[in-house]
Amino acid sequence: MSISISSFFAFSAYRNEAMTRHAAGVIFDFSKQAISIDELQSFRTTLTQKNAHDAFKRLAAGEIVNPTEGRAATHMRERDLAHTSRHDALRATAEHIARSGIETVVSVGIGGSDLGLRLADDVFQASGLKQRVQLRFCTGLDPVEWLQAVDGLNPAKTAFVLASKSFSTLETLTTGDRAKHWLRSHATTHMYAATSSPARARAYGIADGNIVAFDESVGGRYSVWSAVNLPLRVAYGNAPVDAMLAGAHGVDQLVLNDQQFDTSPYISALSRHFNRNSINITNNVIVPYSWAFRKLAEYLQQLVMESNGKRVSTSGAPIATDPCSAIWGTVGTAAQHAYFQWLHQHPVGAAVEIIAVKPSSDVGSKALFENAVAQSRALAFGLEPDANDALGDYKRTTGNRPNTFIGLPDVSPRTLGALLAHYEASVFIEALLNDINPFDQYGVEYGKLLAKELACRNDNSRFDSSTKALLEWANAH
Ligand code: F6P
Repeated sequence: MSISISSFFAFSAYRNEAMTRHAAGVIFDFSKQAISIDELQSFRTTLTQKNAHDAFKRLAAGEIVNPTEGRAATHMRERDLAHTSRHDALRATAEHIARSGIETVVSVGIGGSDLGLRLADDVFQASGLKQRVQLRFCTGLDPVEWLQAVDGLNPAKTAFVLASKSFSTLETLTTGDRAKHWLRSHATTHMYAATSSPARARAYGIADGNIVAFDESVGGRYSVWSAVNLPLRVAYGNAPVDAMLAGAHGVDQLVLNDQQFDTSPYISALSRHFNRNSINITNNVIVPYSWAFRKLAEYLQQLVMESNGKRVSTSGAPIATDPCSAIWGTVGTAAQHAYFQWLHQHPVGAAVEIIAVKPSSDVGSKALFENAVAQSRALAFGLEPDANDALGDYKRTTGNRPNTFIGLPDVSPRTLGALLAHYEASVFIEALLNDINPFDQYGVEYGKLLAKELACRNDNSRFDSSTKALLEWANAH
């Protein structure tokens, strides 16, 4: 199918206006996407047939939307501050830790129990907030990471929060074991847990009063909205975290009231769906032109790919559509000096999402914004070199590379919340379009089981020859 982004602009003076949306002060310019207004409309018909609006209402109402696990997905409820008492225990625990004389809190967790916190930490710092307690992170198994996480810290002045929905994650518990040992006599008082499995945390040795629990129906990749955000609250106080929740809640309300499927998450989801299934563009590159948002692509990798990287529909039948883009990306402008050559001249390329902050008077801030806009323009419209240029064929960029420009009003907890809620809603809409369950992750579970099996092995002979050879290589002296 041949499409031409530039012809959309040539044929309609209203393309930009028609394809731009606003939410919570954020501007979403979808006009340089490859989807036409007519195609958008026909997808909206599909969404009507799929009762998308009701599906959102069921999600928000806490009905079961994750059939394979028989669960609701209640992350939207977590950020509805009208039910403010929901987080009272969490807020009180955060204050208690912050005032207990400790100097550092180490957030121990992985995946959804880590990525959102790191992103928020960067955004909070960049927004001018100061840490009242130093915040560090440790995700995994690597002893180097552990040593760096505790380097220079004093066990008497350090608290650990083990953030794990399941409280059975190998990486988190391995770090927990190291922390217990490292804390020595402080282990009983300085270890905390944020989990939906308090019984396991208790059995692990965390004191009852040091456990903050949340509902099992909050999915792992939505953990940042739950008690998992305890380390952020300890480091920055409760107010900025609540502002982040409020920013997300505002976008939830917009989407819940949108019966025309016209808000930013819908157009984002429909554009991505169109790119993959109509013009075979399967990569979606996230380029934040903001140091504060440099971890956004990592966060979205889990949110999007762990949710929609599926092969069967809710009925269990193989799906005929491509349900999920490959997400990757890095901070601009560094990205321009790495893979933008590929983005501009590879025969297929990728769709790109450019995120930029409204510039201040700072020279670098202005240049960042200008670079972001320039790249958005170059990707869409390309470059036709001078006819007399002998190197014209080498210099030509065809353009026609779909891209979305997201302009943030500021770097703040509230804007971060709004942006993440926009992406979450778009993931849910893509799942609806493809009739898949975005709330389970059985592909990941299998890897965890296999790793356990290898760890408990006493007989390698049942493994394939490659696995056997690698284990033997590791054990050879
Ligand atoms: O990667 C799989 C996963 O289950 C994610 O969904 C989750 O965010 C992560 O592991 C960590 O899980 P937990 O919070 O249970 O330790």
